[in-house]
Amino acid sequence: MKTRILNTTEEDLKIAGKLLNSGKLVAFPTETVYGLGADALNSTACKNVYIAKGRPVDNPMIVHIARMEDLKLLTDDMTEDITKLTNHFWPGPLTIIVNAKDIIPKVTTGGLDTVAIRMPESLVARKIIEYSNCPIAAPSANLSGKPSPTKGSHVIDDLDGKIDAIVVGDDCKVGIESTVIDMTDSVPVVLRPGIITKEEISKVLGKDIPYDKNLYEKPSGDFKPKSPGMKYKHYSPDAKVVIFKGEKEKVEERLIKEKEEAEKNNLKVEIVEFESDTIAARDLFKVLRDCDKRKVDLILISSLEFTGVGFSVMNRMLRSAGYNIIDVE
Ligand code: TXA
Ligand code: MG
Repeated sequence: MKTRILNTTEEDLKIAGKLLNSGKLVAFPTETVYGLGADALNSTACKNVYIAKGRPVDNPMIVHIARMEDLKLLTDDMTEDITKLTNHFWPGPLTIIVNAKDIIPKVTTGGLDTVAIRMPESLVARKIIEYSNCPIAAPSANLSGKPSPTKGSHVIDDLDGKIDAIVVGDDCKVGIESTVIDMTDSVPVVLRPGIITKEEISKVLGKDIPYDKNLYEKPSGDFKPKSPGMKYKHYSPDAKVVIFKGEKEKVEERLIKEKEEAEKNNLKVEIVEFESDTIAARDLFKVLRDCDKRKVDLILISSLEFTGVGFSVMNRMLRSAGYNIIDVE
């Protein structure tokens, strides 16, 4: 298949919308990561998304809307908490899980009775959705298992020749995927942490919101997270990743020592230290992909604190490292 490369001109965004409306697959930027879009109400188009990504079919997709009133098309749930969250955080990187209306095909929701919905902040994303005139199912636009794409070139690397078009826009400013919160129980639960933290959500709702406990425990055999995506191998570069945690100076010393040791064995080694949690969020996936391009064998990363945005980045970093984290004494 020949993949069309589109820009963010009004004309190209209209073409992208038209393609989506006719059941085609189009990748496009959002503020978090690039998404691979399809008409959420078209089961054939949605099936093709799983095929293009090599994604397990029980891993549901997020449905993206461009206008607040479109929420009613997808769910009858309209609790006070949902209204508070959508009024405060939309458009933006927050995805809510609610009970799905029957018009949403089961392929879109991975067979579940619930659906994930988000209204992105990115104007390019919202224009494409508006021009498509349908709700857009869009998982991250990477091959399943690879780090999410935060640049147009990442999407081209993974999906060129497999989908109908790629809209290449600005690099994604957030860099990690949206916060996912389950709103179907009386107590909302954060299933996937993101740039919007549980502390911010708790403040808006006026009560303490927990994380799904699977977020901070290493998956075991009977791992059954509420968010099916959390159980799959994810964010993995080809290189081996090891994380080091402890006092800054001691960690830095250790990173250099480990690098020297590995280089004696002719390994190509990269040391990664981020300046802040938000920079780590923005750059983590890019760094992992860059290392693969340069054929790095071993990536040694300095851990972030497990609080706020740092916790959200560590959730991805740990999985890219296969939970290989070493305490530096
Ligand atoms: O920032 C984002 O959310 C990006 C951009 C493109 O919007 N999208 C994204 O989609 O990250 P994806 O498919 O890579 O991640 C969706 C996550 C998965 O972990 C999936 O299991 C979970 O949301 N999810 C989707 N529907 C769900 C549902 N009904 N119940 C529980 N979890 C759900
Ligand atoms: Mg993904």
